[in-house]
Amino acid sequence: MPFDARAFSFSNTSLVVDPYPVYAEIREREPIHHSRMYGGSWLLFSYQDAAALARDPRLTNNRATLPIMALPEHQRGEFDEFVTFLRMWTGFLEGEEHTVRRARMDEAFRVLTPSLVAEVVRGVVNGLIDGWDGRDQVDLVADFARPMPAMVLTTLIGAPQSDHEQLDRWSDDLVYLFGASALTVEDVRRGWAGGRALMAYLRELAADTGGLPHRGLLGELMAQRDGGFGFTAAEACAQCVMMMFAGIEPARHLIGNAMMALHRFPDQRRLLVDAPRLWPAAVEEFLRFDPPVQYIGRLAAESFTFRGHDFEKGQPVLPFIGSANRDPDQFTDPDVLDIRRRPRHLSLGGGAHRCIGAGVVRIQTAVALRTLLDRVPDIAVREDPPPKWNAYFGFHGLESLTVSTSHVERRTPRR
Ligand code: HEM
Repeated sequence: MPFDARAFSFSNTSLVVDPYPVYAEIREREPIHHSRMYGGSWLLFSYQDAAALARDPRLTNNRATLPIMALPEHQRGEFDEFVTFLRMWTGFLEGEEHTVRRARMDEAFRVLTPSLVAEVVRGVVNGLIDGWDGRDQVDLVADFARPMPAMVLTTLIGAPQSDHEQLDRWSDDLVYLFGASALTVEDVRRGWAGGRALMAYLRELAADTGGLPHRGLLGELMAQRDGGFGFTAAEACAQCVMMMFAGIEPARHLIGNAMMALHRFPDQRRLLVDAPRLWPAAVEEFLRFDPPVQYIGRLAAESFTFRGHDFEKGQPVLPFIGSANRDPDQFTDPDVLDIRRRPRHLSLGGGAHRCIGAGVVRIQTAVALRTLLDRVPDIAVREDPPPKWNAYFGFHGLESLTVSTSHVERRTPRR
């Protein structure tokens, strides 16, 4: 039966598992697709359109009210404070308000030198692998990819690493509000409760940062500079909540998606073992091939016509990263994993809102996967039980991935 683009919906669970053949068909027939989702939205499937509109100033990222707007009007009133909190997030601001805060955040990220990030990741990853303790199979998600980015980011923020599980649970409840296709008032209550709990935790930590061995991102964000823009303590904490929201979930999915990609393309895995200098390029290709963030969310800030289509002010416009990255007009053999290409993918965004954690993610993914393959050289994806993909579209990745781990080497020397 021919595919009907009008059936494209985030609640279609077969899309979650393998959206790429469907993207290919829509790209061919209707690359600028009007969808009934969100009461009428525009989805962009070609590389050229997605790349152009991800940076277009006629679109805004001012989406702080999106989870609340999903509720019927009479239920929205109780969430005014939640919206005020979300409006503190730099990611949802635009223009000058965004520029000054983003510059201040970029400055804070400078304390995270590549060697510091690599050292933190290596410590976390080695500890997790040591914990496998002779088991001949593990769930690579539960026992590695899930805890790892939360442990790393907790440490980089300046919080005790042992608190990572609690922080991760609270941030999960918030993440759900921006990735699910339908929301209930209970979902929003749970998400806001997670946000409040994170803020209370970080406010306490902020009062205490002077006593920590290193100030971490939270301390850096609170530090005042002569003459420049400064965050209040509450704003600095809100940025850290935003980073946990934005940074943990996609980073864990990148690990699982990369393992699946290497499983499907064993020649590329062999190439990496023979030529470890290819690791940075391999991470770029993992990002292109199966990106954890499948689309970028924007709203039309004004009404305008794009390639003959009338976009109305306030309508959601979603550039599809997952489809753009497989566009044959941009990439040769796009469905093949080739770690030697230098892909200009869209997986970390572009323009003013490009990913602030891009440097961290690149190092984290390379160090984590390389350490894993070095220490567990025979690691292999098992068919039984089969890999389990998550159920919602916003973040694309695995809920569980059983791997055999017949032989674990002792820790490798630093590099
Ligand atoms: C594999 C991991 C990651 C992926 C795939 C990813 C992807 C993205 C993408 C596509 C955007 C652009 C969104 C847009 O244009 O609206 C973005 C923005 C952002 N990311 Fe990431 N991200 C990752 C990890 C991280 C990490 C580790 C952090 C924090 C340490 C982080 C913090 C942010 C923030 C704060 C923004 C908003 C920036 C702004 O609007 O100025 N991300 N990310």
